[in-house]
Formats: sequence, C-alpha cells, structure tokens
Amino acid sequence: MTWFVLLIILGSVRSQFAPPIDPVAEVTTISTGVEFTITIPYSTTISPTPPTDPLPTNTVKTTVVTTVTHSETTENSTTYSSSMSPVLTTPKPLRCETNCTFQAAYIESANLKKFPKNCTTVCADPLSIQHETDLTEKQLTNAFKNMKHLIGSLLVTRSKFSSGKFLANLESVDCDNIGQFKWSLNENLTEIGLTSLKSVSCQVEITSNPELAKLNLPNMMPTPSQTADHLRTGVEINGNSPELCITEQEMSNFLSNENNDIGTMPQFYCSALNTNDTIKSCVFENSTLATLETGCVKLKGNVLISENDEEHTYKLESVKDILGSLTIDGTNLTDIDFLDSLENVVALKGGKKNLEENEQLKITENQSAILIQYNPNLANVTFPNLKRAIAKSDQVIIFQNNSQELLMNPSVCWNIRNVLNTSNAGIPTIDGQDCGEY
Ligand SMILES: *[C@@H]1O[C@H](CO)[C@@H](O)[C@H](O)[C@H]1NC(C)=O
Ligand SMILES: *[C@@H]1O[C@H](CO)[C@@H](O)[C@H](O)[C@H]1NC(C)=O
Ligand SMILES: *[C@@H]1O[C@H](CO)[C@@H](O)[C@H](O)[C@H]1NC(C)=O
Ligand SMILES: *[C@@H]1O[C@H](CO)[C@@H](O)[C@H](O)[C@H]1NC(C)=O
Ligand SMILES: *[C@@H]1O[C@H](CO)[C@@H](O)[C@H](O)[C@H]1NC(C)=O
Ligand SMILES: *[C@@H]1O[C@H](CO)[C@@H](O)[C@H](O)[C@H]1NC(C)=O
Ligand SMILES: *[C@@H]1O[C@H](CO)[C@@H](O)[C@H](O)[C@H]1NC(C)=O
Ligand SMILES: *[C@@H]1O[C@H](CO)[C@@H](O)[C@H](O)[C@H]1NC(C)=O
Ligand SMILES: *[C@@H]1O[C@H](CO)[C@@H](O)[C@H](O)[C@H]1NC(C)=O
Ligand SMILES: *[C@@H]1O[C@H](CO)[C@@H](O)[C@H](O)[C@H]1NC(C)=O
Ligand SMILES: *[C@@H]1O[C@H](CO)[C@@H](O)[C@H](O)[C@H]1NC(C)=O
Repeated sequence: MTWFVLLIILGSVRSQFAPPIDPVAEVTTISTGVEFTITIPYSTTISPTPPTDPLPTNTVKTTVVTTVTHSETTENSTTYSSSMSPVLTTPKPLRCETNCTFQAAYIESANLKKFPKNCTTVCADPLSIQHETDLTEKQLTNAFKNMKHLIGSLLVTRSKFSSGKFLANLESVDCDNIGQFKWSLNENLTEIGLTSLKSVSCQVEITSNPELAKLNLPNMMPTPSQTADHLRTGVEINGNSPELCITEQEMSNFLSNENNDIGTMPQFYCSALNTNDTIKSCVFENSTLATLETGCVKLKGNVLISENDEEHTYKLESVKDILGSLTIDGTNLTDIDFLDSLENVVALKGGKKNLEENEQLKITENQSAILIQYNPNLANVTFPNLKRAIAKSDQVIIFQNNSQELLMNPSVCWNIRNVLNTSNAGIPTIDGQDCGEY
C-alpha cells in the first residue's frame, strides 16, 4: 500500500457559501484509493457578505464546518468539499447602561471626572486603584458612593489606603468568574472592610499586605456567575500580617459554594464567634465531648474524641462543619456513623491562644484535618457527606493503628477519595498506605 503525505489546504475548500474560510494548512497521511471523510473542529465567522435572510440586530452568523470530504486531487494539492451549518448566536447583552462604563488603566485625578458616579451598576474592566492613584480616600468615597454593582475586576494593588471603606456601598462584583478581586501589596492596608459586599463572582486574591490583620468581609460569598463559561471560583489569602485571622462566618461563606476552591487561608480563626446565626455554632475549646452542647451545626476548635467519650458521640450527629481539626484517638468505637452529617473540616495552623491547647493534644503544626488512630475495634469508616478536608499539612486524612480490617478493606480508602472527588492520591492514608498501593 502506498502512503502519501498530503497538504490539506482548507483555503481551497468549496462550499455553498461564497467567501472561503481562512486558509489553514494541515498535514495528514492517507493511503491512495481510499474514500475518507475528515471531521475537523473548525469554525469561522462569515463577514456580512451573503446574508440574504434578515438577521436580528446584534446577531453574529457563524458557520461551522462539520465535515470535509475528498473532492478532487491535482498534482500538487487536494481539494475538499465541506458541509457547513450556519449557527446564529446573539452576543451577551451589554450589562451597563450607556455612560456607566469607565475605561482607564487606573483611576486618578486626571480621569476622576470621567468616572460614572451616578450609576449604581458600573462596568470597568478593571477598576484599578494603585500606586499612581493620586486621590484621597474622600475623593474615592465620593466617586464610588452610588456604585452598588461592579461588572469587571477590582484591583487594589500597591495603594496607600488603610482600608477599602471607600467602597462601602459595593454589594457585588461580577468578573465572569475569571477576573480578579485582588488586594495585593498595599503596605498600609489594615482591613478590607467591605461590609455591604455580598456576592463576588471572581478569583479572590488577598496577598502580601503586610499590615492586614482582619478581613472584615462578613457577608462576602463567592458566587459563581450564572452566565460565565468558567464554573469555578477560588479564594487565596496569603502573605499578609502574621496576625491575620479569619472569622468563622467568613470561612463558612467561603465553604458555602461547592464550586469555590479554597486555597491558602490565614493561620488562625478569630476568637469572636458570630452569635447572629440562624444555625447553631459552638466552640470546642477547653471542653470535652462530655461538656459539649447538643445540636451544634458548626463547631469551632480542635475536636478530640478519646477514651470514655464514646457515649457522647451522638452530640456530633448534627455537626456539618468543623472549623479546626478532628481527632479520634484511643476509643473502643466500632463505627463513626455519628459523623454522617459532616461536610467540611478546615484545620488552620492554630493560634497563639490555641498553641497551649495544641501541645496538650500533641497537635503539631503539621496537624492533619482528620486523624483517626488507636481505635482497635474500628473496622469500617465512611464519611457519606464529606465535601472538603483542608489542612496545612500534606497529610490531610490519616488513619493509623486501628483494626486490621480497616487496612485490608480497599473500599474504605476509595469511598473517602470518591466522596471528596479528589485527584490527590495521598488522601487518605491508612497505616501509611494510600489507595493506590492496594
Ligand atoms: C506543481 O508544482 C510544480 C513545482 O512547484 C510546478 O512546476 C507545477 O506547475 C505545479 N502544478 C500545478 C498544476 O500547479
Ligand atoms: C451619555 O453622555 C452623552 C454625552 O457625554 C449624552 O449626550 C447622552 O445623552 C448620555 N446618555 C445617557 C443615557 O445618559
Ligand atoms: C449626576 O446627578 C446629579 C444630581 O442628580 C446631576 O446634577 C449631575 O448632572 C449628574 N451627573 C451626570 C454625569 O449625569
Ligand atoms: C504608609 O504609611 C507610612 C507611615 O504613615 C508612610 O510613610 C508611607 O508612605 C505609607 N505608604 C504608602 C504606600 O502610602
Ligand atoms: C443578623 O441576621 C439577620 C438575618 O440574617 C440580618 O438581617 C442582620 O443584619 C444580622 N445582624 C448583624 C448584626 O449581623
Ligand atoms: C479557654 O481557656 C483559656 C485559658 O484558660 C481562656 O483564655 C479562653 O477564653 C478559654 N476559651 C473559652 C472559649 O472559654
Ligand atoms: C467502650 O468503653 C466504654 C468506656 O470508655 C465502656 O463503658 C463501654 O462498655 C465500652 N464498650 C465496649 C463495646 O467495649
Ligand atoms: C512540618 O512539615 C515541614 C515540611 O514537611 C517540616 O519541615 C517541619 O519540620 C514539620 N514540623 C513538625 C512540627 O513536624
Ligand atoms: C461499611 O459501611 C458502609 C456504610 O455503612 C457499608 O455500605 C459497607 O458495606 C460497609 N463495609 C463493610 C466491609 O462492612
Ligand atoms: C469531580 O471533579 C471533576 C474535575 O475535578 C469535575 O469535573 C466533576 O464535576 C466533579 N464531580 C462532582 C460530583 O463534584
Ligand atoms: C502503629 O502503626 C505503625 C504503622 O503505621 C506501626 O509502625 C506501629 O508499630 C504501630 N504502633 C502500634 C503501637 O501498634
């Protein structure tokens, strides 16, 4: 059989539409005398030349080449005929009223007058406040006083401001999920302080603000934009003041959306507990399971279940979130069905206040999120509702020195990996082995 290398010149594709698509050359190998059809993913916009049919305004006519079939071979090239299917799409409508758009690399006194300060929804991509922004906090507050919704990225970088209170009325920022809500390298920023802000459909990045000691973003909820092609959002908070803490409410807001990836987080939870919550929050600190209240849904602190706590484990049946670590150590438990409601375990490094407690519990700075050890009767473990287990350590979920059955049953390990939907092969480890080693 003879094989030829042919140059397929799409520029010579003949079609029912007059102007040919842009030439694209592709090399492929085919054998002579064989009928073939090539399917190529290729689409092109036909300029408004032929439209005999009237199109609604704002409609783009796109022609998608679905198949290309062999038509004619000459000495030097091969011609193909194609079938094409015209596709009509209407672009996303403009999201701001006319004159509510701001276009500038950053806001400054030279363009301040152009900021659409009467608009409640402003389109600016990005709205950038930076080192060159030669405006006072008062001038910015005045410019932004009517702005409740920002369409586009918000960048506050290398600025001189100590808080973001000039954006006090801002309620939402929509970056189509891929743009940024970024506060970075602001040397005097002590808090962000956007208390009206509820919905952010952006990649959130709060990094390298050396004085930033509190977020004060009590209502900020990562909310993937419904219209965006890119589904996931993310939050990264890194390299700020070593004192920075995150409140239990802020963390719960970050966790509330399954499509939001939690990146690096501050090292501590703030000590204040939100009492204005419709669901019951409890603190597991200086306490034991015996003294814990019943009916808690959120539990803050490093939860320890040890010898003699078996009879109190029913108190954890209502718990969905543990903001801290979970340790089950030295019990005679045979199962952990009392953790069937558990959805999130987010262990931060600790806290100045918590350090003593941590030493008491022999918790190192590399504490895993879930540690289950020395429970000789524990033979089967599932976490049917677990969504996230987050820890500073690489070893997020550790089982060691429990019953031999737990080690020997591969479904224990795989059930946890599957429920977390994780690609991290190191989650969990059972007596040092991960699921892959069975
Ligand atoms: C094919 O290519 C050769 C060399 O480039 C050229 O001499 C010849 O005229 C070409 N044939 C046709 C039909 O274009
Ligand atoms: C937008 O501004 C222009 C002048 O800058 C004005 O003529 C027009 O009426 C404004 N449109 C609206 C909707 O305010
Ligand atoms: C904004 O609103 C004020 C008061 O309603 C009005 O005087 C001013 O002209 C408006 N500015 C613009 C740019 O439309
Ligand atoms: C931060 O504050 C210090 C002290 O007030 C001041 O010297 C410095 O210029 C400020 N930084 C910026 C970027 O404005
Ligand atoms: C308490 O919660 C209610 C309802 O969720 C809310 O309207 C109110 O603003 C909250 N109060 C405080 C102080 O957060
Ligand atoms: C736990 O104990 C420490 C020191 O004894 C104390 O400062 C802290 O307030 C206690 N925490 C709670 C929630 O009672
Ligand atoms: C488990 O230990 C508790 C005390 O820690 C004891 O009361 C209980 O009987 C033990 N259960 C089993 C099944 O050994
Ligand atoms: C924590 O882990 C890091 C990196 O693996 C290691 O350097 C450090 O010594 C560990 N700390 C403790 C207390 O185990
Ligand atoms: C472990 O528990 C789960 C859920 O309770 C159950 O479906 C599974 O069959 C059990 N596996 C073993 C080996 O007992
Ligand atoms: C699991 O993760 C993959 C890729 O990370 C994602 O496409 C899929 O939707 C996830 N499944 C569930 C049930 O979350
Ligand atoms: C605990 O398990 C480890 C393996 O993960 C093993 O090396 C160690 O000897 C066990 N300790 C006890 C007390 O069984």
